[in-house]
Order: sequence, then structure tokens, then C-alpha cells
Amino acid sequence: MFTIDDIGKMDYNQLIGVVRETNRPPGGVRSIAQIAQNGFLTKDSHVLEIGTSTGITAVELAKLVGCRITAIDINEESLVEARRRAEEAGVSHLITFERKDATDTGYPSGQFDMVFCGNVTSLIPDRDKALTEYTRVLKPGGFIGAIPMYYIDVPSDQLIADVSAAIQVDITPLYRDFWIDFFVGGERHEYWLQDSRFDNIPTDEVDRFVDDILRRPHLAELPADARELLEKRYREYMQLFRVNLSQMGFTTLLLRKEPADVEPELFTATVL
Ligand SMILES: C[S@@+](CC[C@H](N)C(=O)[O-])C[C@H]1O[C@@H](n2cnc3c(N)ncnc32)[C@H](O)[C@@H]1O
Repeated sequence: MFTIDDIGKMDYNQLIGVVRETNRPPGGVRSIAQIAQNGFLTKDSHVLEIGTSTGITAVELAKLVGCRITAIDINEESLVEARRRAEEAGVSHLITFERKDATDTGYPSGQFDMVFCGNVTSLIPDRDKALTEYTRVLKPGGFIGAIPMYYIDVPSDQLIADVSAAIQVDITPLYRDFWIDFFVGGERHEYWLQDSRFDNIPTDEVDRFVDDILRRPHLAELPADARELLEKRYREYMQLFRVNLSQMGFTTLLLRKEPADVEPELFTATVL
């Protein structure tokens, strides 16, 4: 049982474990389906999911494809909720949830058909090391599925400071070109991508969402003062993310692992 002091010390990533929020990758189940289809996942595939949080991607892939998934995160509270959801969805036999760091997984090289990293890599301080690790554990011909989020509009310094404090990561505003340059190169060849922009969600819609989440029965067991602080902090975070996301977009990106000396496609085309 969490006390008011526990709740006061938690950052957003820990609070969502407490409220059991479904922490989706950008684009939600639509992005997961696009990555599964365009990355040719079958029930024989083995996927490594990085930063699974409360497990939605792992559970959705297991339900959609019936493949095996190893899902890692550094946050044990989220993994507890992820395991509960996999049980509830009847897919726990397909998923192994493990507490591991993306920069040093310890898995053998060339083991996975796909590494799905959603928007997680931007939160990892040594992101070059993380990307090297994704590439190492991937089979030749395997795919990295990434969904980097970035600013489309230039954010204010205050917004950056507030979001950095909320997620306990020092954010530097980054834009689309940065992420494409980061992911594509060496053995990682661009295979498929799609760009999206987040919708501008009204404030009262966010408030209604928070009200619904906070009515969840398991939260009634919290002491009244802890519950009150949880409600205040969670609502503030969600309203902050509302403002932040309205200035952002993301790219759903598939990279294929092929030898570095295969030259990139020169005469590319755009669907009209
Ligand atoms: C925004 S959530 C992920 C949401 C969603 N799964 C996605 O695909 O975008 C980021 C998660 O990454 C985890 N994370 C951050 N750094 C990590 C690291 N070095 N290794 C593994 N997980 C990490 C956090 O604990 C958090 O649960």
C-alpha cells in the first residue's frame, strides 16, 4: 500500500504503474499493427520489446500475431502491471517480462526477428549504446521498429523544463531529421516509414479521462491523503502532456538489418 510520501516521490513513469494507465507507443494499436504487418511478423517470430512499460505492445503483438515476445523495462512497478495484463489477456505463455537495461541486455547476438523500441530510445541517456545493442541482438534481415516522437513546432523553454521534470529526463528539443539520421546508417537500412502529427485534445477531454482513470477500484484502497495527492499530480502531468503533444509528431519507422556495404536506394519515390 502506497503512502502520501511514496506518491510524492514518484515520477510520471512510476505513477502510471500505480494508476495502471495503458502507456501506449505513439499512434497506439494502429502503429503496433503497422509494424507487425510491414515487418512480416508471424507466430514463429521472436520479438524483443524495449521499455515495455505496462506491456500494451507485448500483449497486443501476442494477441495479433501469436509470436513470442521478450519484453524489458528498468521499472519494476510497470512490469508488475504488465505481467498482470498479460495474464488477464490469456497471453502470458507467449511473453517473458524481464527487468533489464536496453543498453546492456545480455542476450546473445543475432537472436531476435524484430526489436521494437517505440519511443523509448529518446529517454535513454546513452542512446548510441542502446541502438548498437538493438542491432547486435537482431538476426541478419531482421527489423527494428521505432516510433520516435519529435517537435514539429518549436517549444518554449518553460515547456521543456516542465516535461523534463515530469519524466525525470533532461530533454533537448529534437526534430524529425535528427531521428531519421540517428536510426538509419551502418547495418540499419530504411525499409518503411509513415509520418503523423498528434491531434490537439481539448482540456476537458483530458480532465474526463483522468476522472475515469482515478475511479478505478484498486485506487480506493489508498489512504485518503495519498489518493488526493495522486489525483493532483496525475492530472497536472496529463494536462502538461496535452500541451506538449499538441506541438509534436512521430514517425513510424522500420529498419532492416543488412550488411553496411549494400548501397542505399537513390531513386526513391513518394506515394501520391
Ligand atoms: C514512454 S514509456 C514506453 C511506452 C511504449 N512502450 C513505447 O513503445 O513507446 C518508456 C519506458 O521506457 C523505460 N525505460 C527507460 N529507460 C530504459 C532503459 N535504459 N532500458 C529499458 N527501459 C527503459 C521506462 O521505464 C518506461 O517504462
